Amino acid sequence: MLVIRLVSGPAGPDALVLPVRPGGPDSPDSLISPDSMASLEPGLVPTAVPIGDVRAEAAAVLPATRLTGAAGEVREHLRPGGSPARLWLLGVGDGEERDWRTAGAALARAAKDETQITIALPGEATAALRGLAEGLLLGSYRFRLTEAGKRPALAEVAVLVDDPDALADTLDAARATAETTRLARDLTNMPSSTKNPEWFAAQVAEAASGRPDLHLRVRGPEELAAEGFGGLLAVGGGSATGPRLVELDWRPEGARTHVVLVGKGITFDTGGISIKPVPAMKLMRKDMAGAAAVIAATLGAAELRLPVRVTTLAPLAENMVSGSAFRPGDVIRHYGGLTSESTNSDAEGRLVLADALAYAARELKPDLLIDLATLTGANAVALGKRHAALYSENDTLAAGLLDAITAAGERAWRMPLADDYVEYLASEIADLHSSPAQGAGSVVAALFLREFTGDLRDRWAHLDMSAPSWSDDTHGELVKGATGWGVRGLLRWLGTLD
Ligand code: BES
Ligand code: MN
Ligand code: ZN
Repeated sequence: MLVIRLVSGPAGPDALVLPVRPGGPDSPDSLISPDSMASLEPGLVPTAVPIGDVRAEAAAVLPATRLTGAAGEVREHLRPGGSPARLWLLGVGDGEERDWRTAGAALARAAKDETQITIALPGEATAALRGLAEGLLLGSYRFRLTEAGKRPALAEVAVLVDDPDALADTLDAARATAETTRLARDLTNMPSSTKNPEWFAAQVAEAASGRPDLHLRVRGPEELAAEGFGGLLAVGGGSATGPRLVELDWRPEGARTHVVLVGKGITFDTGGISIKPVPAMKLMRKDMAGAAAVIAATLGAAELRLPVRVTTLAPLAENMVSGSAFRPGDVIRHYGGLTSESTNSDAEGRLVLADALAYAARELKPDLLIDLATLTGANAVALGKRHAALYSENDTLAAGLLDAITAAGERAWRMPLADDYVEYLASEIADLHSSPAQGAGSVVAALFLREFTGDLRDRWAHLDMSAPSWSDDTHGELVKGATGWGVRGLLRWLGTLD
């Protein structure tokens, strides 16, 4: 991975990056103070460390570059025989953290043939550094299973600031956030021929090893049967690799709040006996993106030593078609005893989550309970490609999560737990029907999950993140493929708790 270093000078001999702000009147809440108060032209952002003659040269070439200063614009300016030999001018928009994230990602892509670059930051650098570092590390992400073209060339970015020590914590937070997001992307991008429940659990064990402050327990099929995890066993029953329940615990001394995170971990979703058509099955290796995100966020919380207890549950199963697969019409007995009638084996995510939520509410009794799941195609129908659907009865919890998600550069939209559809959850032969034919898909799934939250009902939030877990194209800090959605928002949110 790209190395980012804080330095107070001097700039390296190869390439120097100078930030450019848009023209127009200065906005009072902008982090950047432009050279002149109300210039209509884009201009160079004043940097914390003076960069000498190069600045005058950059200012002189700026009009010819046709940059507007919008976040993410980049131009290269060659200086034959000079040191630095190349100048990169980088648009940083309004200079907010999100603008710098966009700029950092664009820079990582544009400067992929450089090996070392230096970038000069403005004086007030905290938000700029956070955004820049996350953008660089997330925008340069690649997933390759072969060596050829595996990594872009850019190996090191030196960041020029006046007080490197004062910014070390900010860089650490950005690095931990990006590294864990990249881990979630790796897990989610991995083909399911490799990624079965056993492999996923082994990856968690590897990531947690060497961290004695993290506790891991993995339950296999026998323990799951002994303890009554009927949903997980039903869904995982058709696979050659049995289901697992990963329980990962970050328990810092003196923590006052206990959060349980639950993530859907279907390592491949064929739909089961209610098999999916070809186009719908194509990307179903990503159906464990929720589990990847909560595991990665927990590792990040440990890395950042956040003073909150986090227990993460990842119910892992492969939803396959076989002689031992569960059938439409089967009645499942979930952890804790509630039963559900399942007439569509493709509604498998809610069955494994039901077990994990019930276990959390009955045994772990946390203060707050959050689940992330690639639960329904209806998420994208309602909200499009980039927004997760957030459900909660608790306004404070919902607002706190939405704020953190937005601040971290992700997106979610609150949806109603509309009572209108509760009647559809009735079954003639079981406590609940898990896949009613009526109602709004993402809402009904959320209402089903709510039935398993017990005492935590009004301290629970559900995020249906099927849509934003994957990106069809490369833009901003997202790279085509798995996005790692949820890691950034969860880490920010956990950081607000005490
Ligand atoms: N894993 C899918 C949901 C999904 C669809 C995720 C598209 C990402 C992209 C889930 O298990 C599923 O199949 N849901 C069904 C529910 C239905 C059978 C009630 C759906 O959304 O069609
Ligand atoms: Mn499914
Ligand atoms: Zn699924």
